[in-house]
Amino acid sequence: MTRATKSLRQLREDLPLTRRLAYFQTGSYGPTPDSVLRVVAERMAYQSRYGSASPGVTGVLLDQEHRVRRQLADFLGVQREQLAWTSNTSQAMQRVLRSLDWRPGDEILVSSAEHVSTQDACRALEQHREVVIRTFPAEAGDDALLSGLETGLKGRARLVCLSQVSTLDGRRLPARQAAGLARARGVPLMLDGAQAVGQYPVEIPALDCDYYIASGHKWLLGPLGVGFLWVSPDRLSQFRPDFIPDASTWLKPGNPPPPVTASSRSELGTHNYALRIGLGRALEIIEALGPDRIERYVQELVQLLFHELEARPGIRIVTPTKPGLASGLVALELKELGEAELRKLIENLLEQGIVVKYQPERPALRVSVAAFNTREEILRLVDAIDVLTRSRR
Ligand SMILES: Cc1ncc(COP(=O)(O)O)c(C=O)c1O
Repeated sequence: MTRATKSLRQLREDLPLTRRLAYFQTGSYGPTPDSVLRVVAERMAYQSRYGSASPGVTGVLLDQEHRVRRQLADFLGVQREQLAWTSNTSQAMQRVLRSLDWRPGDEILVSSAEHVSTQDACRALEQHREVVIRTFPAEAGDDALLSGLETGLKGRARLVCLSQVSTLDGRRLPARQAAGLARARGVPLMLDGAQAVGQYPVEIPALDCDYYIASGHKWLLGPLGVGFLWVSPDRLSQFRPDFIPDASTWLKPGNPPPPVTASSRSELGTHNYALRIGLGRALEIIEALGPDRIERYVQELVQLLFHELEARPGIRIVTPTKPGLASGLVALELKELGEAELRKLIENLLEQGIVVKYQPERPALRVSVAAFNTREEILRLVDAIDVLTRSRR
């Protein structure tokens, strides 16, 4: 048994769900390993049993939380002062949008693959601040995306919103090139890494973006309720999403302001230390497996899925199958099935212990292939789809 296989086995042992389900929904919520849950429960119990407000207790927890912030910063290749905790990607995205002083006629450039949370926030900006939404195409390939973006940048853009991996079909979008175009025009770019972090190595500085947002509860397998935001050093002084002067200190009149950090500008009030500390355990798991090994293993599974599906008529793979463009997120169109039939098929899969997502935009079936999935599960999924679609023909 190689080291990689051994540690993947250990990961499955840490995830009792894998004994009951073939779970292909990590793109929505990754399952939380038992060892992560234990850290969260143990830290919450410690806080409650020894006195939540006792300075000693808070000090211990704060120290552990700081260590996880540093661990996450190292994982992403950034400084911890540039990272702020949020509850999820959507909240991180809102913080970025709120930190800009929108004026009527300003433009926001949004790729057509952005998650509904971003699309909704843009519509609210349009409604309440008279901001103009300009959408550039993400589905027609990198060249079309970049040239659409380039055209958009000629207007009055104040922000570009782009996903690193499309939530719709798992295609890796040309983030680095897009950031280069935006930078050349002096327009900040917010990169949504919700479907990227934990799937493969992510070095934020190499992406050249201005803001990076993600969730801990998807591919990182962290506890539900922790996300984060990275703000580039040159955007930090203008980053002010809230009214508060500097949140972490409850600044009193006359006191000197603390150093400007992403955290001091956006982390407000009481929170649950245990969740952030639990994310530290999840990061240890991902680091021990190695993001590059996770990527290689998941790509083997995804290529197996593509290969098995090739021979099945009626199934169209929406995701580009070329390695390098595909991620662990795969969208499938079942050509002969309407919306209601597709929903029914997903229900039938669930009855067989196979969990996939209904993707309403196409509509399609979205399969998230993660490090804890196996070849056997992929084959079971393909067979089950095949049998169910045949019975409906
Ligand atoms: C690309 C992308 N961005 C944002 C989100 C929203 O994530 P959250 O619910 O953690 O805020 C998702 C969720 O699937 C996503 O895929």
